[in-house]
Amino acid sequence: MEPPPLLLLTLLHLLLLLLLSSTTFSATTPTSLPPTPPPTHSPTPTTTPTSPSSSSSSSLDPKQVRALQSLNIPTSKDPCTQLHSNTTLCDAAKPFRHLLSLTLANCSDDVALSFTALKSLSTLQSLHFLNCPIAPIHIPSDLVSSLHSFSAVSSLRRLTGVWLARLQNLTDLTVSYVQVIASGPFVILGNLKKLRSVTISHANLTGNIPKYLNLNLTHIDFSGNKLHGRIPSSVTLLENLESLNLSSNTLSGEIPTSFGDLISLTNVSLSSNSLSGLIPESISAIPGLVHLDLSSNQLNGSIPKFLSDMKSLKHLNLANNNFQGVVPFNVSFISKLEVFKISRNSNLCYNHSVLSSKLKLGIAPCDKHGLPMSPPPAKEDSSADDSSDSDYDDSDEDSSSQSDHHHGPSKVVLGVAIGLSSIVFLIIFLILLSKWCG
Ligand SMILES: *[C@@H]1O[C@H](CO)[C@@H](O)[C@H](O)[C@H]1NC(C)=O
Ligand SMILES: *[C@@H]1O[C@H](CO)[C@@H](O)[C@H](O)[C@H]1NC(C)=O
Ligand SMILES: *[C@@H]1O[C@H](CO)[C@@H](O)[C@H](O)[C@H]1NC(C)=O
Ligand SMILES: *[C@@H]1O[C@H](CO)[C@@H](O)[C@H](O)[C@H]1NC(C)=O
Ligand SMILES: *[C@@H]1O[C@H](CO)[C@@H](O)[C@H](O)[C@H]1NC(C)=O
Ligand SMILES: *[C@@H]1O[C@H](CO)[C@@H](O)[C@H](O)[C@H]1NC(C)=O
Ligand SMILES: *[C@@H]1O[C@H](CO)[C@@H](O)[C@H](O)[C@H]1NC(C)=O
Ligand SMILES: *[C@@H]1O[C@H](CO)[C@@H](O)[C@H](O)[C@H]1NC(C)=O
Ligand SMILES: *[C@@H]1O[C@H](CO)[C@@H](O)[C@H](O)[C@H]1NC(C)=O
Ligand SMILES: *[C@@H]1O[C@H](CO)[C@@H](O)[C@H](O)[C@H]1NC(C)=O
Repeated sequence: MEPPPLLLLTLLHLLLLLLLSSTTFSATTPTSLPPTPPPTHSPTPTTTPTSPSSSSSSSLDPKQVRALQSLNIPTSKDPCTQLHSNTTLCDAAKPFRHLLSLTLANCSDDVALSFTALKSLSTLQSLHFLNCPIAPIHIPSDLVSSLHSFSAVSSLRRLTGVWLARLQNLTDLTVSYVQVIASGPFVILGNLKKLRSVTISHANLTGNIPKYLNLNLTHIDFSGNKLHGRIPSSVTLLENLESLNLSSNTLSGEIPTSFGDLISLTNVSLSSNSLSGLIPESISAIPGLVHLDLSSNQLNGSIPKFLSDMKSLKHLNLANNNFQGVVPFNVSFISKLEVFKISRNSNLCYNHSVLSSKLKLGIAPCDKHGLPMSPPPAKEDSSADDSSDSDYDDSDEDSSSQSDHHHGPSKVVLGVAIGLSSIVFLIIFLILLSKWCG
């Protein structure tokens, strides 16, 4: 009757395994930090604040001090001299100064912005809400006249086009991550005649891009909405436009052929829409274009060679379209770019006597007829020469493959440990068994 030692040995083995696995895991824990809890809205509203302007002699208008107090903004220190940012928040009027700019950030949702408080803040030229999910407010007409800049980011729950259209003296409007209910951007843009810069993004805004836009607009960002229809060719009349972001909508049709009339453009994204047709040749006439993102559409035809003559270009993303034929670029052009993406164009290929597979373009090399070699390599693998040209790596899988690397070694160590200890155990077991039986 000698089985007990065997039982003991089994237990010992299990213990050993546990020990091994826990040590190999704990060895890797320092690299994998515990998940940080999602940021919670800190309940304190803050002013943005101010830098004192040169004369800090006079103090803030007592009516405005009371208004700030009603917003739970601490006023024990003069808000005009409270230092947080570097913008002049107050004017230098005597006997009392007045607020020019106010930012309410991270408010708790029980903060109520009363009409009375806003009425006494009618000297404000800028009013910004950041993470302030308070109920929308009725803005007194004096404040409407004085406001030049307004923003609501993840704030005010939801806004209507009519509400925004009242702010007729705005030059800058930003509404982001706030639902905007309107039949289309025209309700807003048609009324805000002085606008220079407009961002209404991630707002579920519906409707079409307006045909008539203020010709003085320099920035338009309507990304992340539900705009549909074509991009009207009248957009190309905006010769002061520096950035245009229409990404992540459901726009269709072709890019206007006169797109190159946007001669001030530096940044444009039309990505993640349903645009079709060719890249208009006129684009090559935009002298300062730095950032061109046309990814995730249904654009087709060949990739135009003229893109490589655009001297300012730094960011070129044509991925996930229906482009076809041979990539017309050489290494010196591609290596000049900071971002170059052309993957996920299944009919596109590269000439392997011009471009190296090390560039990892994410497309197949061409055969002698200029067609993608079949079957297209899913990915130019060769982990050996990862090092040199990883800058041009095109795939979005990058991050995931990197996190794989983190887990790789520990899994291997664990596997080897379990295997080795199992073998040792088996040998001991066999020896014991033979002794016990014999
Ligand atoms: C608001 O809270 C976020 C974190 O939740 C913090 O990063 C940010 O600095 C806060 N902003 C202000 C103005 O207090
Ligand atoms: C202060 O503001 C000026 C102009 O807006 C800006 O150029 C500068 O970088 C700011 N300085 C700091 C420290 O924020
Ligand atoms: C815009 O500002 C001007 C003065 O700069 C003022 O006369 C006008 O009433 C304001 N417009 C609106 C719609 O409040
Ligand atoms: C937009 O709509 C989607 C789904 O309909 C919703 O999940 C999202 O919260 C909405 N966005 C805003 C800013 O209201
Ligand atoms: C555009 O700006 C110019 C100069 O800044 C100004 O004279 C003109 O009235 C503006 N036009 C519109 C339509 O706002
Ligand atoms: C324009 O693109 C450049 C380069 O990609 C980027 O650094 C810059 O922030 C962009 N500017 C705007 C206004 O989007
Ligand atoms: C366009 O907007 C999206 C989402 O808002 C942003 O990620 C992207 O960087 C912007 N692109 C340009 C060129 O401004
Ligand atoms: C591009 O797509 C359009 C339809 O969207 C089609 O009419 C046209 O023939 C295509 N052109 C090429 C070169 O494939
Ligand atoms: C690469 O292409 C550019 C633009 O087409 C051209 O100017 C340059 O001479 C080419 N370089 C080489 C080495 O062929
Ligand atoms: C690839 O490039 C070589 C050298 O420039 C050229 O002779 C050949 O015709 C090209 N092949 C294709 C398919 O374009």
